[in-house]
Amino acid sequence: MTTDTILAGRVLSFAQSPFAGDPQDAVHLFDAVLVRAGHVVTTGSLQDIKAQSPDATLYDYGDALIMAGFVDAHVHYPQTAIIASWGKRLIDWLNSYTFPEEMQFHDPAYASEIAGRYFDLTLANGTTTVASFCTIHPESVTAFFEAAQRRNLRVVAGKTCMDRNAPEGLRDTAQTAYDHSKTLLQAWHGTGRASYAITPRFSPTSTPAQLEALGALWAEYPECLMQTHLSEQTDEVRWVKELFPQARDYLDTYEAHGLLGARGLYGHAIHLEPRERDRLAEVGGALIHCPTSNTFIGSGLFDMAARMAEGQRVGLATDTGGGSSFSMLRTMAAAYEIGQLSGTALHPAQLLWLATAGSADALHMGDKIGNIAPGMEADLVVLDLASTPAIAQRAARAEDIWEAVFPTIMMGDDRAVKAVWVAGTCTN
Ligand code: GUN
Ligand code: ZN
Repeated sequence: MTTDTILAGRVLSFAQSPFAGDPQDAVHLFDAVLVRAGHVVTTGSLQDIKAQSPDATLYDYGDALIMAGFVDAHVHYPQTAIIASWGKRLIDWLNSYTFPEEMQFHDPAYASEIAGRYFDLTLANGTTTVASFCTIHPESVTAFFEAAQRRNLRVVAGKTCMDRNAPEGLRDTAQTAYDHSKTLLQAWHGTGRASYAITPRFSPTSTPAQLEALGALWAEYPECLMQTHLSEQTDEVRWVKELFPQARDYLDTYEAHGLLGARGLYGHAIHLEPRERDRLAEVGGALIHCPTSNTFIGSGLFDMAARMAEGQRVGLATDTGGGSSFSMLRTMAAAYEIGQLSGTALHPAQLLWLATAGSADALHMGDKIGNIAPGMEADLVVLDLASTPAIAQRAARAEDIWEAVFPTIMMGDDRAVKAVWVAGTCTN
């Protein structure tokens, strides 16, 4: 008996980065994709694919777009319940909304409830991989990985470490941050589809001793990712300069403690100085663009075109709940709008690439997820390109695939997500 599955529709595959040349040349469209044992076998015409596997089960999605599931490269799952909280900027937003909520994650039952709710929301939005901050509580990490494991999702997460400038009950120490991170890393990194990221929240909430301890842990486990925040708001950058008077710049607070590397994920990275940009490009650390968060908390405009021209590795993310949405469609729309404000209209192929292959590359998982190509894991999203009357009437006029897709990028939401496949299994 065969376990093969064929998905038919408009199958989108990237042959290269759409930032490398003409964006249109980066994309191939096929009629069908053949899936076996959780992986993509091949793409092609429906006739050829059927000939290759005559007994396969066929899912015919008509003219819907079939592409890699979205990869959200920077989120805070514990902030699910405080998304869209009004009126604050970064530091008072953290103190007013975020820290009180994160305090509750010492309770495994609460952590588990929110992790489940978070994955229900992200899957409904077509996101199949996230890289999440947890809280300082090891229970929050366990709850997250268990919830992901139940859904067979490829995920990244780590215990958020903070030993200063955070309330009582939300602080660890240099030593416990090291010890708990190491225990969790040993339990989860490489277990099924889970990966561990060493996670100092950001320099203002870690003493140099804690950064040093986490740098040492990363040196012991260089195969792990490291995730943090960098230069999100100008007030924050000034505060970092006060807290670290010896540092050349914000990035140096990480660099000096062994926390700069190719497997580093630097959230926001908006207000960078020339030395920081040069070092990030040299090392290959990833800048994670969080456009709905950057507008919502009032952080600033990330200059995508300039960063790409420098050769930076860039991923895309919601930054839930500083970001105002769980949807990578909404996130692509915000990235487009911020691009326009900076003088560059990002092509739809570039937006889709950032939300899939680009983010996967930032997570060093570009050989596993983020594209439909032979051997890749079959995490897929099927998008209805006429999901609302407003989108449908615009898409009806489309003369090519990009005109057909762009209204869904700009106006689409979870109603556009027709199906989500995780490791070759349909989830809905
Ligand atoms: N910087 C440090 N912590 C956070 C957080 O939780 N969200 C955002 N947007 N920025 C941060
Ligand atoms: Zn963040």
